[in-house]
Amino acid sequence: MTTTSSAEPGHQKLAWARAHMPVHTALRDRYREIRPFAGLCIAVCSHIEAKTGVFLETLAAAGAEVVFTGSEPGSSQDDVVAALNEQPGISGYARRGVNEEELARLHSRALDHQPNLILDDAAELTARLVHQRPELLDGLRGVCEQTTTGVQRIQAMLADGALRFPAYAVNHTPMKHEFDNIHGTGESALTNLMLTTNLLLAGKQVVVCGYGDCGVGIAHKARAWGAQVTVTEVEPRRALRAHMNGFAVRPMDEAAGIGEFFITATGNRDVIRGEHFRLMRDGAILANAGHFNVEIDAAGLADEAEARYTVRPGIEAFRMGDGREIHLICEGRLVNLAAPTAMGHPAEVMDQTFAMQFMAAEDLLRRRDQLNAGVHAVPDAVDAEVASLKLKTLGVGIDALTDSQRRFLEAWRADDILESP
Ligand code: NAI
Repeated sequence: MTTTSSAEPGHQKLAWARAHMPVHTALRDRYREIRPFAGLCIAVCSHIEAKTGVFLETLAAAGAEVVFTGSEPGSSQDDVVAALNEQPGISGYARRGVNEEELARLHSRALDHQPNLILDDAAELTARLVHQRPELLDGLRGVCEQTTTGVQRIQAMLADGALRFPAYAVNHTPMKHEFDNIHGTGESALTNLMLTTNLLLAGKQVVVCGYGDCGVGIAHKARAWGAQVTVTEVEPRRALRAHMNGFAVRPMDEAAGIGEFFITATGNRDVIRGEHFRLMRDGAILANAGHFNVEIDAAGLADEAEARYTVRPGIEAFRMGDGREIHLICEGRLVNLAAPTAMGHPAEVMDQTFAMQFMAAEDLLRRRDQLNAGVHAVPDAVDAEVASLKLKTLGVGIDALTDSQRRFLEAWRADDILESP
């Protein structure tokens, strides 16, 4: 393999990620000979950085022809893209800082490879294929989707009668959302926010919008760093959970005047908007951790402001008519992926997220004939298998049920429950 200078830092990043993704090492060892993806083109749409790169390498080792593209304009890393394009069996189209039109062109080039399987993030490539390249539907065997937003979009596709293939809701597996969304987003959103601002979190008023998996991670970890955390919600049970977990829960028009930092993680739009900007404290900092850059109404903020200027890499200040400054991080794009220092989630978390995508893809292909067009849960056994692999790499042992424990759990008659072992 020849290496160009633009790819060299990318190779270094890949080597570091590889060394911290032992589940992928185990998958490569297990599937290198079996080659379950031989003869298939797999398109991966994701944030193209080092951990994703290791995932692509694992798919290629398992026999796939891999094509990749970015799922978001600001989250891919050019050196990693260059390094991946130097590897056999992998090619792709992604660049950091593209606009929406360029992103669409890059997606289209990936689709030119006529993928048999799409492993997607936010259903970006899937929606593009269904909407704009329907001639490719015949060759598409299925889709595995790794985000909350993407599963919602595929369900909307189904409701619209547009879904003609099986899709696995990989996001909904415990091994994905109970770790990636909570711990991955929680840690990486906060660390990137603090690195971008170079400010202190301890003692600050932090408003977390949305108390789903990502919001739970962000709120709990911000509190662990000493912040005073307020949660906003629209769903009564989630709001109650936040309340009973000890957070202040307030509507946004109350929280707006309190926060020094705001972090959105709702998967929704215009969560922070005009009427809220008017109430904010001077110096308030707004960041988004949800997939789309619409959670904070950046255009509305620009309309309200008298002037806007960059104050640090990744931070734009908006000066309001009364002299207050409001700061927006990375145009409201994913703070953990688009910030200047951003590297996305920690490697160990992505090791299991991408292992879920890998194992779900393998299962979907094996069971393809039994799966109708629709959104399917990944079988629990596949999820448990990834958990076992992960525990093994961690050197963590657990107990096994004894026969009498198993019988006890399966019994329903009082006599059977009380029988001696
Ligand atoms: P979720 O569905 O578990 O939680 C979202 C929460 O936001 C729900 O409780 C919902 O009631 C609440 N919500 C909706 N509209 C709201 C509003 N106007 N005000 C306040 N709360 C509102 O979703 P999850 O898994 O937490 O994901 C959230 C977003 O983050 C999605 O777009 C997802 O794709 C994205 N995501 C981002 C990651 C990253 O790396 N930054 C990683 C994983 C997911």
